[in-house]
Amino acid sequence: MQISTTLTSTPVDDARLAGILGDPGFGNFFTDHMLTVEWTPEAGWHDARIEPYAPLSIDPASAVLHYAQETFEGMKAYRHADGSVWSFRPEENAKRMARSSHRLALPVLDPADFVQAVDALVEVDQRWVPDTTAPGAGEKSLYLRPFMFASEVFLGVRPAQHVTFMVIASPAGAYFKGGVKPVSLWLTEEYTRAGRGGMGAAKTGGNYASSLVAQQEAIAQGCDQVVFLDAQEGRYVEELGGMNLYFVHRDGRIVTPATGTILEGITRASIIELAREMGHVVEERRFSIDEWREGVASGEITEIFACGTAAVVTPVGALKWDGGEVPCAAEAGEVTTAVRQALVDVQFGRAEDTFGWMHRIV
Ligand code: PLP
Ligand code: COI
Repeated sequence: MQISTTLTSTPVDDARLAGILGDPGFGNFFTDHMLTVEWTPEAGWHDARIEPYAPLSIDPASAVLHYAQETFEGMKAYRHADGSVWSFRPEENAKRMARSSHRLALPVLDPADFVQAVDALVEVDQRWVPDTTAPGAGEKSLYLRPFMFASEVFLGVRPAQHVTFMVIASPAGAYFKGGVKPVSLWLTEEYTRAGRGGMGAAKTGGNYASSLVAQQEAIAQGCDQVVFLDAQEGRYVEELGGMNLYFVHRDGRIVTPATGTILEGITRASIIELAREMGHVVEERRFSIDEWREGVASGEITEIFACGTAAVVTPVGALKWDGGEVPCAAEAGEVTTAVRQALVDVQFGRAEDTFGWMHRIV
């Protein structure tokens, strides 16, 4: 893919950038540039370009604003101690976007072009990848958000004939304000995230829109995040609004839900491999809410954690529902901490990348 580049004449100055990278939070600040590629049935993907970051001007009749035909990805670029910049399994994000796009009747961007596009933006905006070697700098990275949307100006309901793919980037610190502290969960029994034949396995905005009212309920109940059950029986644990779940058992076994309607997390898949390498038996299977409640009560379940690109690995504390609660872990458990460490050590280049997961960009 041919990508043209127009550099900004007004990059964020060094002092302001240092301030932003010192405390980026999550999703607050955006780099100097953005990448765009257009698609039409006649021309295919074309006009790939990097330009100064700026608001888009779009027609009010753009299909995405009405029918939500869009997909997105979440990934990160990490700076290693020698200054080099790397992404983590980018071809897995590329393949997942292809699967999501298929489900949303969007055109598929070739995975090689997806990786090239992400690399090109990171290279241009490489000074935005935080340095994490300074003492107390923490695990900062540059969060990357590729996305694709129906940009055709048309109100009929059918797959759009003009589609836009973009990549933007945002420096990121901890996703949760408290850092690596257990998050409390609210079990919604009213709302579900995904049904059979629906789009639960796709990374598309509609899934997040439908999660928000349940997330609001969680906050009102004094919890950090909401946990969803399967839509059919309301019995099996699926995932959180933006993270997959793991249940560590007394004998070291780790169970993670598999239902066909969850988002297939790349962190999830990587942790399955890492945990097996660390000697854990990992089971991917249906996991009922009763197994959760009873397992914590009996001591059979010793730790619970959630994972995702944005939140990395986060310990899970109390589970609350309408009429009950199972208690809270006050701190991250031993297995949670070890899995988290193993993962971030590979991502930040502090441990050998035995699985060949890292992709050098700069
Ligand atoms: N589940 C949902 C609903 C998500 O939004 C995410 C975040 O991307 C995940 C799981 C974790 O996926 P990944 O590990 O690929 O970031
Ligand atoms: C991610 O972890 O990349 C996510 O997409 C979760 C959330 C920020 C949407």
